[in-house]
Amino acid sequence: MKRHKETQSRYRVTGCCCAALMFFQDLSGAHSSVEPATPQAGRIANLWWVMFYVSVAVLALVTAALIYAVFRRRSAREQTAPVDLSPNTNRERKATRAAAVALAVTIAILFVLLGLSFTTGRAVSFLSNESPLEIKAVGHRWWWEFQYVDPVPSRGFITANELRLPQGRQIVLTLTSNDVIHSFWAPNLMGKKDLIPGQESRLIFRPEKQGVFRGQCAEFCGFQHAQMGFLVLVESDGDFSDWYNHESQQAVQPSNDSEKRGRQVFLSSTCVMCHTIGGTPANSNIGPPLTHLASRTSIAAATLTNSRENLAKWVTDSQKIKPGNRMPPNVLGPENLDDLLNYLTSLK
Ligand code: CUA
Repeated sequence: MKRHKETQSRYRVTGCCCAALMFFQDLSGAHSSVEPATPQAGRIANLWWVMFYVSVAVLALVTAALIYAVFRRRSAREQTAPVDLSPNTNRERKATRAAAVALAVTIAILFVLLGLSFTTGRAVSFLSNESPLEIKAVGHRWWWEFQYVDPVPSRGFITANELRLPQGRQIVLTLTSNDVIHSFWAPNLMGKKDLIPGQESRLIFRPEKQGVFRGQCAEFCGFQHAQMGFLVLVESDGDFSDWYNHESQQAVQPSNDSEKRGRQVFLSSTCVMCHTIGGTPANSNIGPPLTHLASRTSIAAATLTNSRENLAKWVTDSQKIKPGNRMPPNVLGPENLDDLLNYLTSLK
């Protein structure tokens, strides 16, 4: 909890400098590669610290050598006698030996780091025998599709922009893209991996800490690349099962007249051409599925908190919030909008 507060205040400071980051204020999960929440991210963090300390030591040595050289030259200049520039085999032999030692040390350091990097790479792609939770992540401009693959196909489901995971279970995340190259990056959980159209790659990790972690697309993918975020929510087994069972159901039925009218507004407008609401004729995946929209904490790929007010702004003119995204503005009368919002916010 303390760590979340610290992270939030960090984003708040950044938010003052950059209007785009203002959106992130209430949606900031932990986002740091040196606060690992999986053994795999732990290996990567260890490698980072080794590289960091080695680089600091090399920088300190080179700086000290430079200062020493400058100091020696200055004291030589101060002497009244002209500098002796005639060939001096003894001095040249010394210089050659010093350069050779420096080269050998550099090569040795690079090989040690290469070896550590290689063993880390092997360790983080290790798949254990236990049956994993398999999830497929598909990148879209600009949102994330997460398909939960269930051994019973009818229990599988698709959700968007929020990846829920059970603590302590091995996760196999298969990555691909629907349009251009994106990159999945949730630094507390694992290193980056590209999502490439027509190709599948995978990430394996085991979340060991509960919490909310922020992820971000890490490959430039167009206008709204910077606002292609996602949240990873690591929960206890019980909470995860409850959520999973609920997500595999169809959408709830409208419970009053306004929600019924709202569903009608949804089904008779352009919304139906891009979104899915389970149990209704809306069945397209151009935009995120909305079957359980109200149970998500954010909208617009972790750009806005999921509130009625933000939903209204997004539905009427999403181009103001994320210019260039594929959702057109919707012209709805105040009553229709109210009914639609009542319906959408009922989709727990
Ligand atoms: Cu998707 Cu950058």
